[in-house]
Amino acid sequence: MFIDGEWVKSNKTLPVVNPTTGATMATVPAATASDVDRAAQAARKAFDEGPWKTTTAQDRGKLLFKLAEAIRQNADDLAKTDTQNMGKPIVEAEFDVNDAANCFEYYGGLATKIHGQTLTVPDNAVSMVMREPVGVVGQIIPWNYPLLMSAWKLGPAMAAGCTSVLKPAEQSPLSALKLAKLMEQVGFPKGVVNIVTGDGPEAGAAMVVHPQIDKIAFTGGTEAGKHIIKNSADTMKRLTMELGGKNPNLVFADADFNAAVDGALFGAFANQGEVCSAGSRLLVEESIYAKFVKELAERGKRVKIGDPMKRETKMGPLVSKEHRERVLSYIAIGKKEAKLVLGGGAPTDGELAKGWFVEPTIFVDVAENARIMREEIFGPVLAVAPFKNEADAIRMANDTPYGLAAGVWTRDVMKGLRVMKEIRAGIQWLNTYHPTYNEAPWGGYKQSGFGRELGLFGIEAYLEVKQLNINLREEPIAWY
Ligand code: NAI
Ligand code: MG
Repeated sequence: MFIDGEWVKSNKTLPVVNPTTGATMATVPAATASDVDRAAQAARKAFDEGPWKTTTAQDRGKLLFKLAEAIRQNADDLAKTDTQNMGKPIVEAEFDVNDAANCFEYYGGLATKIHGQTLTVPDNAVSMVMREPVGVVGQIIPWNYPLLMSAWKLGPAMAAGCTSVLKPAEQSPLSALKLAKLMEQVGFPKGVVNIVTGDGPEAGAAMVVHPQIDKIAFTGGTEAGKHIIKNSADTMKRLTMELGGKNPNLVFADADFNAAVDGALFGAFANQGEVCSAGSRLLVEESIYAKFVKELAERGKRVKIGDPMKRETKMGPLVSKEHRERVLSYIAIGKKEAKLVLGGGAPTDGELAKGWFVEPTIFVDVAENARIMREEIFGPVLAVAPFKNEADAIRMANDTPYGLAAGVWTRDVMKGLRVMKEIRAGIQWLNTYHPTYNEAPWGGYKQSGFGRELGLFGIEAYLEVKQLNINLREEPIAWY
């Protein structure tokens, strides 16, 4: 792992498993609390004393542009690394790599556009607002978008002038380490970015309580998120929480039928459904429901499951054996709760038997209180139910403790916008599902978390606000 500009080991290791074959493809250090401490001290020093403290915004921006360029030059290797490490189809991994480079470029441009304000106040004084970097940030990321989540975290933090200790997920640490190599290569000074590989309970937990870390930016499950919020209280960390979802995708009868069927499948099954914003709750207007679910099950057969390194593959294995067991246990629950129309198991034939594959699975006529309708499964499992009318659709969409994303399909844009205004979720799409823009704020309502990443909101999350008041009157205030 990468601490204070050096490649170091720990006294324990973690195996890294290729989920397509079940074989160990690498081992990485399992960071302990003392490794985390070294990383945090290095980041602290780079922030408090330099070299990052004295690196100009312009130079920070230039480094981010160089990093984006290096990512593009190594795109094939980075895409292959994520695919082999966590199972996403190679074509999707290539999108992620391109997106990661774009993200660093977006924030490279923003580094020089951080500015304050001058306020008019009722006094002979000037009041100013300055924005300053939050300090040392601990960034904890999940395994579903390993490289892209590194970019979403490091891009704004570096642009803002923060230093970082970043911990990739224990299942998928390899692309973050390769990114650190590229950062070293393009000239990021030592200590500015430290990558610690390790698990949540030991390495992640040590970051959350570390007194030298000012902020935790977390993306992952809601349960881990709640632990982090509680454990970070004693050191009063700033927090950004990007957590789970059970996102409604609403199809009205007047939608473009073909586009909506496509969008429903893509929303549910892209990246094996291992997406916080997956459209895992599909709600379809009653009058087209029967026809829609028939077509959905039919077209769902086209989702090609297989070796994610093959370009024709549209669904790879799940990230791990443990995660597959969790997803299969939800499918078993679903079989008792609803009607199965596609998939419903793990493929047992040939090469697929070796990896952690789960078939694309669709349940229909799912009751509103069914567990598969309410709980995040984080796999290729879609729950479908009908709704009666606009009011019913809105009520059902909001009937969840989560509030991350939502989709709406209708040709009536006024109705679409009305519905979107009523849905309490931070990311919404009309007549599409999943496109994510570096320019637009990403994050959730309710138990999907708080704070926003990406766009201008994303850099604000790495800045403190300071007010400076300058008296312009020479005479004393003569109070005493
Ligand atoms: P997780 O949320 O436990 O792990 C995500 C990251 O947090 C990893 O880097 C992990 O090492 C770290 N972590 C875990 N516990 C921690 C703790 N107590 N303190 C500090 N860091 C900690 O996700 P996991 O266990 O892989 O999956 C469990 C469920 O969480 C999934 O089935 C899924 O429902 C959800 N999930 C949601 C994600 C999202 O993007 N919303 C991403 C990954 C999982
Ligand atoms: Mg966990």
